Amino acid sequence: MLERLVAPSLLAADFSRLREEVQRVEQSGADWLHLDIMDGHFVPNISFGPAVVKAVRAHTRLPFDVQLMIGNPAEYIGAFVQAGADRITVHVETDGGSDRVRQLLREIRERGCKAGLALNPETPLEQVEPFLAEIDLLLVMTVHPGFGGQSFIPETVEKMEAAYVRRAACGLRFRIEIDGGITPETAAAGLLAGADVLVAGTWLFQSRDMAVAIRELRDLAGR
Ligand code: DX5
Repeated sequence: MLERLVAPSLLAADFSRLREEVQRVEQSGADWLHLDIMDGHFVPNISFGPAVVKAVRAHTRLPFDVQLMIGNPAEYIGAFVQAGADRITVHVETDGGSDRVRQLLREIRERGCKAGLALNPETPLEQVEPFLAEIDLLLVMTVHPGFGGQSFIPETVEKMEAAYVRRAACGLRFRIEIDGGITPETAAAGLLAGADVLVAGTWLFQSRDMAVAIRELRDLAGR
């Protein structure tokens, strides 16, 4: 079983105090920092770009888990690598079909980054199956991407289970990350289904003590 990781999502931070916020995340014992990149086209929201990633990179040693929710990811992989990304996740729904996805994953790896593939709640697991041997991380979105503070979609749990079974059956090593509406209650369902990386924004940043909240997620029973 892969170790349990907790990745607070910067999307839920106080954007007027990003240096203090990333230092709080690190001091609270998080494993990664999750950074949601949104362009207002691929998802109906705009968040932040390479310049902000570079700015916060200087203030923490945490691995940066960058999720590209943008229409033209190929044009920006280099910029996010330069900005300090340690892993870059692209969406299987990106334009251009499977050849484009394979090319994106290859470019991410060739630049020395870990490669992740995300799928939205309505996307069946079959759509990512051709790529499972080429990724370090599978991000099963548990909300429709674009905004923090949404409710966890329980129908995504069976997709996590299917990914867990597929990984074991094929002897693969990708991590299973879940993101969206993660609280102790929803995390418990995901962990029992086989998830091993928890992305949480609202629940962690609104918690009275983030270190206690992270420990609460990390101590939940897993598969
Ligand atoms: C959705 C975003 C959110 C964010 C965390 O596109 O990816 O899932 O990271 O959201 P909450 O606040 O629900 O934990």
